[in-house]
Amino acid sequence: MIRRLQATLQWLFMRAEALFNAAFGDRLNPLYHLGAISFFLFWIIAASGLYLYAFFETGVADAHASVEAITHHQWFAGGILRSVHRYASDAMVFTMLLHMLRYFAFDRFRGFRWFSWLTGVVLIWLVYVSGISGYMLPWDKLAQFVIVATFEWLDWLPGFGGTLMRNFIYPSSVNDRFFSLLTFMHIGISLLVLLLMWIHVQRVPKAKTAPPQPIRVSLLLTLIGLALVQPTLSQGGAANLSIAVTDLNFDWFYLLLFPLFYAWPLGQVWALVLGTSALVAALPWLPLRLRRERKQEFRVTILGEPQPLTVRVGETLLDAGLRNGVELPYECRNGGCGVCRCTVLHGRVNHRLYQRNALPDAIREQGKALMCCATPLSDLEIEVDRDAARPVRSVRQYLGRVEHIDRLGADLIRLRLSLPTGETIEFAAGQYINFVLEDGQRRAFTLANPPHEKEQIELQMHWIPNGRFTTFVFTRLQVGDTLRFEGPLGVP
Ligand code: HEM
Ligand code: FES
Repeated sequence: MIRRLQATLQWLFMRAEALFNAAFGDRLNPLYHLGAISFFLFWIIAASGLYLYAFFETGVADAHASVEAITHHQWFAGGILRSVHRYASDAMVFTMLLHMLRYFAFDRFRGFRWFSWLTGVVLIWLVYVSGISGYMLPWDKLAQFVIVATFEWLDWLPGFGGTLMRNFIYPSSVNDRFFSLLTFMHIGISLLVLLLMWIHVQRVPKAKTAPPQPIRVSLLLTLIGLALVQPTLSQGGAANLSIAVTDLNFDWFYLLLFPLFYAWPLGQVWALVLGTSALVAALPWLPLRLRRERKQEFRVTILGEPQPLTVRVGETLLDAGLRNGVELPYECRNGGCGVCRCTVLHGRVNHRLYQRNALPDAIREQGKALMCCATPLSDLEIEVDRDAARPVRSVRQYLGRVEHIDRLGADLIRLRLSLPTGETIEFAAGQYINFVLEDGQRRAFTLANPPHEKEQIELQMHWIPNGRFTTFVFTRLQVGDTLRFEGPLGVP
């Protein structure tokens, strides 16, 4: 069941990542930066929160009025920042959970990764506690609902036994001290989140905690845009504990479970929340019908490096190299760019999941692997392709016209494409091109004509059963059609 869920998620993530790569390029693919984006959102929340705190009154009589003043009297600053604070908090929940789902899908939470996983689970709790306490501060009708529902839920626990709710029976029971405590909790827990985020990445070699600038700028602009189009407003006026709250607009990122407090017995909601947390926390230790490696570590020799590396089971070659201070080429760290390519001289690797254009099958068959994805299955000797970055970055796209389609056998075709008049392609023997499909996916083929024929390319293509592109070529492609391709690629 868990394996099937992982396989489905893997498929979804790989498709989505291919689409994002086609749209933004692998460097700016947001799915490759989910952890760093969560960090960045935290800083936006902290900065906007600090501004709001400067104008917020922590007394029960003034809290609501001060939030209203921030929202309306200085809408151009406090108003926008209140909305940015809210939307960034929502976005952080979203990117954090997506980040978790991605590591779960790609099975990167076991073994030595238990530390990041477990601190991640605690982070989810802290982010939620901090966010939910934030909803209480404006002291509007939503705050009233969140406070009453939360404390009713907490009261179910044996230690409290109904004592908490007594504070909210009469309006007079809510006092300034309680509000100061709420504010202190909201800020204090957010600081704990920051501390734990820092601890969380300590065991990830060279963890990136800031996304690339274009992602930072577009995130910020999107949040400001949302704040202008749909500003965050208080709901239903100031809280009044003597009137029950009925109509509310919900925030589903933080308050998803709240309707359950009134639909299920509270004990069942506790069982759901604690049971799910325990199951997720225990995932790294659950036996999931995986092939058990007898060895716990492998020795990997990198040509030119004085010492062999020790690589832990499930650790990628890149992570092991960076952990040991070896300078290795990399960019996306997620199997999307091809910069970290190496040649496996001896031994076996598990290539794991990567985008096909980063390591085309034709190249993989030459014994190449991506260090950011491959994990050893035996002791290894590898050579780093330090030039792999260059051709991938400087490829050109062409529109080739089909001139000849020769059937050389039942499942073998020779294809000859001419380039547009005046265009040429400079390549060396052994290099390849990628056909670029409509959805941005690539299919690689080695160039079969001699390099001095610069105005055309020739390829030999085997039919791959159920292969989308080769089936198209074998059944529908005609002389005169055009195909988009990029190249030349690969180290000459
Ligand atoms: C505030 C929320 C979080 C932040 C800011 C955050 C940030 C990060 C960052 C920056 C990294 C370094 C590598 C990368 O960017 O992918 C990372 C790694 C990791 N995170 Fe998180 N994370 C958060 C929550 C979580 C959660 C909820 C989980 C899962 C329960 C999780 C699981 C992991 C794992 C397993 C790794 C290590 C992966 C490896 O060693 O290859 N994180 N996180
Ligand atoms: S660093 Fe991009 S594919 Fe490995």
